[in-house]
Amino acid sequence: MTNNKIEKIVSLCKRRGFIFQSSDIYGGFSAIYDYGPLGIELKNNISKIWWKEMTQNHENIVGLDSAILMHPKIWEASGHINEFHDPLVDCKHCKARYKADEFDNIINWDNAKCPKCGTTGKMTTPREFNLMFKTTVGPVEESGSKAYLRPETAQGIYVNYQLIQGAMRLKVPFGIAQIGKAFRNEIIARNFIFRTREFEQMEMQYFVKPGQDNLSMSDWKEKRINFYTDYLGVTKNNIRFHEHNENELAHYAKEAWDIEYNFPFGWSEIEGIHNRTDFDLKKHEEFSGKNLKYFDQQNNERYHPYIIETSAGLNRMLLTVLSEAYWEDTENNRIVLKLEPKIAPNKITICPLTKKDGLPEKAKIIKNDLKLSYKITYDQQGSIGKRYYREDEAGTPFVITVDHKTLEDNSITLRHRDTQKQDRINLDNLNKVLKDFLG
Ligand code: GAP
Repeated sequence: MTNNKIEKIVSLCKRRGFIFQSSDIYGGFSAIYDYGPLGIELKNNISKIWWKEMTQNHENIVGLDSAILMHPKIWEASGHINEFHDPLVDCKHCKARYKADEFDNIINWDNAKCPKCGTTGKMTTPREFNLMFKTTVGPVEESGSKAYLRPETAQGIYVNYQLIQGAMRLKVPFGIAQIGKAFRNEIIARNFIFRTREFEQMEMQYFVKPGQDNLSMSDWKEKRINFYTDYLGVTKNNIRFHEHNENELAHYAKEAWDIEYNFPFGWSEIEGIHNRTDFDLKKHEEFSGKNLKYFDQQNNERYHPYIIETSAGLNRMLLTVLSEAYWEDTENNRIVLKLEPKIAPNKITICPLTKKDGLPEKAKIIKNDLKLSYKITYDQQGSIGKRYYREDEAGTPFVITVDHKTLEDNSITLRHRDTQKQDRINLDNLNKVLKDFLG
């Protein structure tokens, strides 16, 4: 199953309205995806949990929504114009394109062999390729109006940090969190939504006093890895840290750790935790000419805070959750998405056992009562067994069935997705039971 698990997830996502290739009717648009009705619910539920964890569970972390387009000098200052590129090589024979670092220590590219067509001696030498998308601001395409689609949300936080600190009267240590789109013109995009050209990041920048950075780094490492097991239902043995060695470190980082997940295609990064030191603030000070030091009134000190960054990809987090939840229950011949109830797109589906005898009417009354508290759908199409299996595949944790007994004694059955266990519950107690499971 492992070998083609990712294809099965892709197929389920399309079939059930989670994720579609962008511009599908035009044959698709490479490495860009659209989120359908269930996908957007799942994505929103994950991002809401992250947002709450950051800005509600931490009194000293506040939110921001900065613009995607920013002053082009920001990208000079951040180093993205000079440093943010990948070396790419092409096979002149079959036109396949690769990142040069996918090949092991090649010294002479004239003898390199194309992994796709097997031809030797047709690879180009590596060319540096900047990953930022360029665009033009204003009506005329002229050099002065060049702009970039942000490749990370972090810079929006750095350039706003003093305004936020002043407005919210924050004292170091404090954090600023942001969720938003980022764009990278990836040379090679593969593995479904793992590496795409348009994606969403959930980044939090934590401003600390220099000298406190190492401690803060280990604190955030622990908090972030626990997030996956405590909130998203990821099992401990499917998640691990990987420390960046000198060759892997980004130009801004003194220390960096990836949180990796054991995806069907192997261990890969879902989140990076970086000690960015005072690199970014000093660079923006240099390029903007604005003093970006923090003033510590209590100790009458001025300094550039160090920044510990936690940077997660929302789409990769979603793929993590799908990979973890996908289960082929071969004994019962069904596919189940064992999503944590709190992140499941739909919480409940309500099914009248038959389409007659007043059962649909009763089911709709119950649905209307519950819809203010939970995302709930109604389904009366097909046999009850088929309806159950449809919901299992969509990850819906509970199905409520309304049958003839409901009309007699005001009770329903509550079916649990993973165990298929059914409880008979009086409608007077239903809210309490659901609250215990769904919060
Ligand atoms: N601000 C730091 C930063 O952007 P990064 O390691 O380049 O660091 C952080 O990116 C996270 O963003 C990654 O761990 C990943 O989850 C997500 N990410 C990066 N590039 C991506 C891409 N092309 N497609 C999907 N997610 C991506």
